[in-house]
Amino acid sequence: MSLDFYTIDDFDMDDKTVLLRVDVNSPVDPNTGHLLDETRIRLHSETIAEISRKGAKTVILAHQSRPGRKDFTTLKQHAEALSQILGRPVTYVDDIFGSTARGFISRMRKGEILLLENVRFYSEEILKRDPELQSKTHIVKKLLPLVDYFINDAFAASHRSQPSLVGFAVKLPSGAGRIMERELKALYSAMDNAEKPCVYVLGGVKVDDSIMVMENVLSNGSADYILTTGLVANIFLWGAGFNIRKKNREFIKNKSYCEWVEKSKNLLKEFKGKIILPRDVAVCIGDKREEFRAENIPNNLIYDIGTETIKEYAQIIREARTLFANGPAGVFEKEGFSIGTEDILNSIAASSGFSIIGGGHLAAAANQMGLSGISHVSSGGGASINLLAGEKLPAVEVLRRAKSIHKICGKNK
Ligand code: 3PG
Repeated sequence: MSLDFYTIDDFDMDDKTVLLRVDVNSPVDPNTGHLLDETRIRLHSETIAEISRKGAKTVILAHQSRPGRKDFTTLKQHAEALSQILGRPVTYVDDIFGSTARGFISRMRKGEILLLENVRFYSEEILKRDPELQSKTHIVKKLLPLVDYFINDAFAASHRSQPSLVGFAVKLPSGAGRIMERELKALYSAMDNAEKPCVYVLGGVKVDDSIMVMENVLSNGSADYILTTGLVANIFLWGAGFNIRKKNREFIKNKSYCEWVEKSKNLLKEFKGKIILPRDVAVCIGDKREEFRAENIPNNLIYDIGTETIKEYAQIIREARTLFANGPAGVFEKEGFSIGTEDILNSIAASSGFSIIGGGHLAAAANQMGLSGISHVSSGGGASINLLAGEKLPAVEVLRRAKSIHKICGKNK
């Protein structure tokens, strides 16, 4: 797959207003509301610094979490962290495309950096529609007259067809930022060279993405085994007929994931022996970790995979030639419940196969552990597994299209 889209190198940005989409969606402490990890902010700071060095007025769009979640917060802290990392001021405005935001943009000087508010505070952003329709949304209509170019660096969100990710590229000369470029190069090369056995370790709470990918990679024969962890595993345990007890069933219901339990039953039947479930789990009793076999789960929330499961998964990981992992194995932020995530990451790092891990939380955990030995740490979880499963990423496709629509004339080269 070729990188047939513009990159930062193709644009003359001097004194131009560049709208930059990044993905700084980060773990947030549910009790204090504080940012727990700055990995993604640090990552995008490279592109931001480069664009600003080229003399652009950099207007940044980003999201944090999804509506209804505890970590669905403003981007004020993100701006402060970014400013510290860059060692220069980053203006934050608690507005996305209203008159306040537009006023800030029109008063910017070259080299200045402005971070707009969490773009998902705006309801149209959540709608999944094709790029043409997204280019007619209010956010695009209001910001379009103020900007010259659109650069998308948000690889981690590139599987979403949302206005801020696909709408601007329909209308403006657009290209990829450095992170987008690097991620796609690494992942395309992994896809071209994948050796068997190929194992996917799928966890975290974004069950919809994981199950869709699981179905694709098992159907097309690219995956030999799927090791389930996190909430994905709990749904499959329920689907396989284990009594995961009321509290865990309620948790799944509250996330509106019940349809995936039915789906898991079908997948287990269709791909017998390919989807591996935890033999044991760790639950939280009186703030302590206690382990139980899957046949004997108490009425407490499951916070991690158990020790027997970790051993079994380590063996399968050791024998894999290609490994893709997405999402943590449990609530790794909670004391005593990071064992599954850490041990899985250690096994992957020790494996001699080619390995890619993805997702903000898993990348953050690997970062905190200071792990080396993983072939590529992707900033994107859903995006990377969708790509590896053969799906087209809407935000990348629209950049390709932008290159054929918007010819950049010589003076910009
Ligand atoms: C991610 O963290 O995977 C991206 O920011 C996308 O977030 P989403 O799954 O809420 O769209």
